[in-house]
This record gives sequence, C-alpha cells and structure tokens, in this order.
Amino acid sequence: MLPSSPATHVLHVVGARPNFMKVAPVVRALEKRAGVEQTLVHTGQHYDANMSDVFFRQLEIPAPDVNLAVGAGSHASQTAEIMTRFEPVVLERKPDLVLVYGDVNSTVAAALVCAKLSVLVGHVEAGLRSFDRSMPEEINRLVTDQLADLLFTPSEDGDLNLQREGVPPEKIHRVGNVMIDSLVRLLPEASRCSANGFPESYALVTLHRPSNVDDGEALQKLLRSLLEISRQLPLVFPVHPRTRRRITEFGLQSGQLHLLDPLPYVEFLALQRNARVVITDSGGIQEETTYLGVPCLTLRDNTERPVTVSMGTNILVGQDENKLCREISKILNGQAKRGTIPPLWDGHAGERIADVLTASTR
Ligand code: UD1
Repeated sequence: MLPSSPATHVLHVVGARPNFMKVAPVVRALEKRAGVEQTLVHTGQHYDANMSDVFFRQLEIPAPDVNLAVGAGSHASQTAEIMTRFEPVVLERKPDLVLVYGDVNSTVAAALVCAKLSVLVGHVEAGLRSFDRSMPEEINRLVTDQLADLLFTPSEDGDLNLQREGVPPEKIHRVGNVMIDSLVRLLPEASRCSANGFPESYALVTLHRPSNVDDGEALQKLLRSLLEISRQLPLVFPVHPRTRRRITEFGLQSGQLHLLDPLPYVEFLALQRNARVVITDSGGIQEETTYLGVPCLTLRDNTERPVTVSMGTNILVGQDENKLCREISKILNGQAKRGTIPPLWDGHAGERIADVLTASTR
C-alpha cells in the first residue's frame, strides 16, 4: 500500500482530547521501526492546557511539529479552518501516509484534504457506528471511512459496518483498541496516584455530548438527577469546558454538586479505576470502564461501541432518570453488571498498526 522507498514518512493529525491517547501508542510503535519518519500535526481544536498540554506530557507524545491553532468555532467554520490551514502543510511536508484518529472534526477535515490531494489516509478507530446522524461524530466517522485507504478497526462490529458500506475487505485491518494501549501502559502509574481529597466510595461523572448539554432543559434535568444520586453516593464531576459554558449561559443551578476542572489522563484513570460506578456520555470512557471492569451507565440512547454493552460493563440509560436511579441502586446493592475484556484490547494495537504499515512498505 505504501511506496516501497527506504524511508516512509507518516504524518499524524490530532486535535482534540480523545485523540491524544490514541496517537501515543502508534507514534511509540513506529519510533521502533527502521526507516520511518514521523511528523505530528496538532490542529489546536482543543487548546486549553488541561485539555491538551498535560496529555502530551503524561502520554509522552513528542511536541507537535506543527500547530494549526484553529481553536473553537461552529462545525463548518472549524472544519473549514482546519482544512485551509492543513492543506499547505501536506503540500510542503509531502507525507507518504496521513493517519487520522477517532471521530472529531479534525479527523474528517484532514481526511478530506488528503483525499483531494491524493495522499493516502489511514483511519485509526474505523468502522464504529451509532447509526444516529444527529451526532456530529457519526457524520465524521461515515465520511472519514469512505475516504480512507487503510481502516484500522478496534472490534468485529467495525469490520462488519465497513463491509456493509461497501469498503473492500483488503482495506480493513482489525488491530484492536489503541486507546487501551495507553491505559495498559499508564495503569501502574495511575495505581500509585493518591486518592487524597476524594471520597472513599463515589460515582465519577462526565458530561459533554451536545444532545445532553446544549439544551437547557435536558441539562437541568440531568443535573437534578445527579443531585438526587449524590444523596446516596458522593459524585466526582470533572466538567468539560463545553458543559461549564452551558451551565453559566443557561444560568443553571448545580446546587451541592462540586464541579471540578478537567483532569489530566493519569489522575482521571485513577478515579475511573476506583469508582463504584461511572456515569458518562463519552465514547472512550465506555471502553475504558469495560477494560477496568467498572460499571458504566451511559447517558445516551445508542452507542457506536456496542461491544461495551454486549461484552463489557456498559448499560445505556439514555435520559431516563428512573432507569439511571434503578441501575445505581442495583450497583449499590452489589448487583453490578459484570463483563469481559473484548479480544485485541491488550495493549498491543499500536504495534499491530505499525506491522501493517511497515509490511506494506516492504
Ligand atoms: C470534541 C469532539 C467530541 C469529543 C470531545 C472530547 C467534535 C465534533 N467533537 O467535542 O467528539 O468527545 O471533543 O472533549 O470534534 N473548549 C475550550 N477549551 C478547549 C477545548 C474546547 O474552552 O481546550 C470549548 C470550545 O471553545 C467550545 C467547546 O469547548 O466552545 C466545545 O469544543 P469543541 O472542540 O467544539 O467540541 P467538544 O465539545 O470538545
């Protein structure tokens, strides 16, 4: 697939927090392969120190070679801005292959630029589908997978979705879950993290999905349910900038809820590992809790990661407060759902991606 020159130039594009734990293992695996040159581009979609810099440090990702510094914007303007600023970088750096990660606006923007310039694109975390096109990430996933030349999937459902959409099987490589590579590597460090200042038993909460936080009424309802839960079980709630902004904009009452700033990777991993339950609308956290065997209640009606429900500890509760409270009671009564770790979620997905890339250069 890649040109059979002695040196191969791989350019990685990342932009938002969930990309960082995915790129780290791939960069690390490719560093060990002879004849591979790597360039790292940060689009700057996430720019706060606690949404970006600290992740680079903890995950030991090399400093980006290029930062496009796009910042915030509407979906169209952010995507367009990334494309406009990324195109000259590709023309100047001339990579043999561009790797894009996950499902954020940076992913689809970079894939579109490369497809138009006839530069090969590999998509890491391909094939995931929620079948819900009201989710911006679903649009990003669909478009990126149609454009990509190499599709690296984390689980079998990804392969099946891609085949159903007409992607030729030879483009699909099931390599497992790269995000779990980062978790496996940093879990020992997380285990040494001090639990000082946190309750002994708690629910860990994260919330940032537009469908939950961009509507004032829905968000107020969720905050009320959380407040109710906090009477039985203390909550630890690191708040995403989008959610914090909405709470202020809508003038919502978060009552006794103690809102923390976003946490670094290792500290957050430590909190997940020790949580009685995790309540979230994130994608990646559904996977991390499945690996850790910690019960996860997902505040969404669907998931692009069905294996976390079929094999793992995840339960979809949507916006149904009664179901949420029922599931919390079950967990507190010792009847939490048990799960197993899906195949190839073993800490070696990055190496399998490097194998595919270097085999195709031979
Ligand atoms: C993005 C991804 C989402 C991912 C999430 C993880 C898309 C479409 N969505 O959503 O899939 O789960 O990242 O965090 O790409 N902001 C800051 N500081 C930052 C970053 C963002 O204040 O460092 C603010 C922005 O100004 C904006 C809001 O947070 O108002 C949302 O940021 P944005 O990048 O648009 O999307 P996310 O909601 O973070």
